[in-house]
Amino acid sequence: MITVNVNLAERSYPIHIGEGLLDDGALIQQVIPGSQVAIITNTIVGRLYLDRLIANLPARKVDVLELPDGEVFKTLDTWSGIHQFLGEKRHNRGTTIVALGGGVVGDMAGFAAATWQRGVRFVQIPTTLLAQVDSSVGGKTGVNLPVGKNLVGAFWQPAAVLADTTVLSSLPEREYRAGLAEVLKYGIIHDRAFFDWLLQHHEALLLRAPEALTNAVRVSCVTKASVVARDEREEGRRAILNYGHTFGHAIESLSGYGHWLHGEAVGLGMVMAADLAARMKMLPSADARAIRKAVAAFGLPVARPQELTAKAMKLAFGMDKKVLDGRVRFVLATRIGCVDICDDVPSSLLDETLNTDFLCEFDD
Ligand SMILES: NC(=O)c1ccc[n+]([C@@H]2O[C@H](COP(=O)([O-])OP(=O)(O)OC[C@H]3O[C@@H](n4cnc5c(N)ncnc54)[C@H](O)[C@@H]3O)[C@@H](O)[C@H]2O)c1
Repeated sequence: MITVNVNLAERSYPIHIGEGLLDDGALIQQVIPGSQVAIITNTIVGRLYLDRLIANLPARKVDVLELPDGEVFKTLDTWSGIHQFLGEKRHNRGTTIVALGGGVVGDMAGFAAATWQRGVRFVQIPTTLLAQVDSSVGGKTGVNLPVGKNLVGAFWQPAAVLADTTVLSSLPEREYRAGLAEVLKYGIIHDRAFFDWLLQHHEALLLRAPEALTNAVRVSCVTKASVVARDEREEGRRAILNYGHTFGHAIESLSGYGHWLHGEAVGLGMVMAADLAARMKMLPSADARAIRKAVAAFGLPVARPQELTAKAMKLAFGMDKKVLDGRVRFVLATRIGCVDICDDVPSSLLDETLNTDFLCEFDD
């Protein structure tokens, strides 16, 4: 087992990463102390992994709520249903809420933990690649509104994250690849050597080879932890974690949530951001091409769907939380391994990116 620490003074916590952690009774009992536990999961993950978790929580009151599966249920109604359940089962301030599932379960269970009796202990057991490398770390919790994603929520750090990489073996292929987009993101924003390593090991990663997978999760968590430790509440630099997300969120919302997986939209968003940065002469065109090639190597879409017009995309940017003072902020790479936050993107170049059918295909 590898442990990565998120250093946030009194809110610091460990991310434990390894194979078979769900069967490590001593570890589970250490991160989930106390006499009351509420496990929030969904119907898919519950069927697969709930018994193993419960078997390692003897001699305490364990209540389980299985939510329906899917992003469409990441709503205020579902969140309020978690409170109702906690109330009916008489959970008090000493309870621990455990999220067993992907980012949808984690975001909702975390928001419920942040708000139940003004905040109770929260433990993340992420079961998708995206959740292991991204959503379970950093304390962002929340739900969607019909007008936009993640618009209601709270910062609420978990007390621990337990990432058992063996549970990723049951993840559907498309979900797994979508998670690889977020892994690639860390290479692009922070770590050229990791980006190169990912490309060298893309076949092993696509096959979910345990060693490669554990390393990818570890390096991703190290990067996320260090960014979060410097800017917990996204007052500045933490926004770099949104690389590809301004485009990605627009793609997701215009296509109707659920049509594109979050990671798929982020993958294409990273290619679009690379295209824009190259047009602005911020990013060498060779790096833009390399980003496109890497996204494609992980089997993710790299072409803009025809139905997403420039006009619609720009309208969608207007609803993005990253808009400050009416200007759209983009996270753009200056080279692979380094990004800047940019709020003065020339409109004509943005139009070129939004209209081209040949993203990142530049002649030197
Ligand atoms: N809080 C954050 O910082 C943050 C960061 C990124 C994304 N997110 C959020 O995360 C969500 C996306 O998360 P996700 O990609 O994990 O999607 P998800 O939670 O919907 O999980 C994807 C699918 O995989 C299934 N599943 C989960 N684990 C499985 C397993 N081990 N085996 C088989 N099936 C499994 C789920 O039931 C679901 O059908 C979005 O709502 C997004 O907004 C949050």
